[in-house]
Amino acid sequence: MTKFSKRWSDPALVETCDVMDRLFQPMTAADGIAFSIGSPAQEALPVDALREISQDVFRRDGRGVEALAYGTKMGIRDLREIIAAQLLAPKGVQTTADNILITAGGLETMKLMCDVFLDPGDVVLVESPTFVHCVMIFQIFNAVCIPCQMDDQGLILEDVEAKIKKYHPKMIYTVPTFQNPTGVTLAQDRRQKLAELAEKYDILVLEDDPYRDIRFKGKDLLPIKAFDQTGHVVLANSFSKIFSPGSRLGYVVAPDDIMEKISYAKVATNSHSSKISEVLAAEFFKRGYFPEHLKRICALYRERCAVMMDAIDTYFPAGTKHTYPDGGLFTWAELPGDIDTTELLKETMDQLHISFVAGSGFYVEGGDAGKHCMRISFGAVTPEKIQVGIKRLGDYIKTKL
Ligand SMILES: Cc1ncc(COP(=O)(O)O)c(C=O)c1O
Repeated sequence: MTKFSKRWSDPALVETCDVMDRLFQPMTAADGIAFSIGSPAQEALPVDALREISQDVFRRDGRGVEALAYGTKMGIRDLREIIAAQLLAPKGVQTTADNILITAGGLETMKLMCDVFLDPGDVVLVESPTFVHCVMIFQIFNAVCIPCQMDDQGLILEDVEAKIKKYHPKMIYTVPTFQNPTGVTLAQDRRQKLAELAEKYDILVLEDDPYRDIRFKGKDLLPIKAFDQTGHVVLANSFSKIFSPGSRLGYVVAPDDIMEKISYAKVATNSHSSKISEVLAAEFFKRGYFPEHLKRICALYRERCAVMMDAIDTYFPAGTKHTYPDGGLFTWAELPGDIDTTELLKETMDQLHISFVAGSGFYVEGGDAGKHCMRISFGAVTPEKIQVGIKRLGDYIKTKL
């Protein structure tokens, strides 16, 4: 018999992998409407700009040789400098290229962090609900995930502090801006307080912030990292939502001692991230495409979000509660009555060819948590299809009440 490692035989991990498979079932029907997808809109991918950039890059007298050769573990310097100057400094995070490492997407940062920090049995505090991919990674490292309560302002810090005292966690994992799955944003005063709690109790905060730049409403907030005086906050970000998920690019911002270990873990994983992607992304920023691009995609998501909010308010049954996000790609709905969204999903996939993500998989506490909830993405669906799909979904849900 195949003898897998104890880690990969752990029933909790096996269950999470099953949950993931069930959660993100692909939509195969040609006429399907996938509110389940967390990807950016096709229209938000900078295809034309990258065609132009690639033609210049892939030349011997351009950056062709550099893009195709081996690189260094931190990633190309100009991209790291761009991140520091264009993405972090305007948000109140003062750092340099030396404290930024380019990863192969945001998820790789989680894996590198776990590799460097977690021993079996270590506790990670997570939001309730939380981003299930990361739970999977924490479980691969045999961590114990403890859920912390949230309200419409994000993590409730009294609960976080109580759980710090009770469970002595190694790490607090949070998606503070337009959270996946709820779309909720952590309030500014709580961001500062969380950084202070991390310092007070000597715990790491892993701030996963891939939606931060997709703000189409409201006031920009400082990242938790901006309040970090003592190196207790590690910031993970991604180019997936603002540039291209296929480029597999992300970055991590960490203090020297943590960065040293992360960079060695990176070497042991894959030496460095894709130089081809790094060079194309660096040129995209250097040539000044980013500000216009960001403005355009924020306008696109603003429209899609507004159409979805309207459609849910119009077509879902009375008593439905949902979030009104100021950015990102998701809303989170809680249905009235006794509707189990896992069962509902099977029916809507079958009968309506409409998918969403059932809520329960996002809760590490299990049981009935999230049973009546659903994550609905507006990012990758056109406004016309949002209208049609939410009406069909709402009409169907009403028949179940
Ligand atoms: C909260 C969160 N973190 C990380 C990621 C992963 O991003 P990447 O595509 O860069 O690996 C996602 C993607 O959906 C996400 O929602």
